[in-house]
Amino acid sequence: MRTVYLNGDYLPETEAKVSIFDRAFLMADGVYEVTSVLGGKLIDFDGHAVRLERSLTELDMRSPVTKDQLLEIHRELVRVNGIEDGLVYLQITRGAPDDRDFIFPDPETTPPTIVLFTQNKPGLADSPLARKGIKVISVDDLRWHRRDIKTVQLLYPSMGKMMAKKAGADDAWMVMDGYVTEGTSNNAYFIKGNRIVTRARSHDILHGITRAAVLRYAEEAQMEVEERNFTIAEAQEADEAFITSASAFVMPVVEIDGVALGDGTPGPRALRLREIYLDESRKAAI
Ligand code: PDD
Repeated sequence: MRTVYLNGDYLPETEAKVSIFDRAFLMADGVYEVTSVLGGKLIDFDGHAVRLERSLTELDMRSPVTKDQLLEIHRELVRVNGIEDGLVYLQITRGAPDDRDFIFPDPETTPPTIVLFTQNKPGLADSPLARKGIKVISVDDLRWHRRDIKTVQLLYPSMGKMMAKKAGADDAWMVMDGYVTEGTSNNAYFIKGNRIVTRARSHDILHGITRAAVLRYAEEAQMEVEERNFTIAEAQEADEAFITSASAFVMPVVEIDGVALGDGTPGPRALRLREIYLDESRKAAI
């Protein structure tokens, strides 16, 4: 059985209990992070810790633990659960007041709830899907307009994935005012010639930690980066496309709304970016 972390304690997963009045349960009032583990080490821990702090600040919340404690908890869970490859999920909510109320509770009397658990994914980096590539469909982006805050309001992204599944695809790219924002749980890109195009950072998208790393490594792959709005039609005419996230790393996209890109197999540049990302990340893992 997995050991999980809840409010200062390491517990068997079946013994970790949270109040029914928790603000995350009633109001989706919480933020989260997903950090991948490769070879027993954390990938991009610093980036995730910094973004967590930002999400909390934007929502007027405070972390119940320091960054050093957070690292220690991540490492301890990876150790006790024997995770070689997998993920660490972290969630901090505005805590559990003693009744339902729209007004934020006083943080002095209602401390945040912090939960971490691991997910074991043997061979995470060696995904057969990466060799095949994924198919995406487009859906309207109906989320709220602070997507830069990594909140646990994931109903619409879940619906997007269900729409994709029903359409025989693997995931969905969301479109707002005619332009792609991002994938349901990842950032979206296309490649034309030597150029990677992806939407610029703003409140419209999550500022992906994998995105930042991949754009940094683009130069190493002799590629240019253009951060701007793009349409589904433009991406369908591209040479290649891909998505990035902490759990998918760099994942080639081979079809958009039924239109195959190139010959319908993962493009060489996306695969090269995946390789560089994985190599560099493993080197920098802690
Ligand atoms: N999702 N955009 C959205 C909407 C996301 O939910 C995610 C991450 C990303 C990529 O961010 P990063 O590179 O920091 O993982 C972009 C996580 C993995 C999830 O919900 O499981």
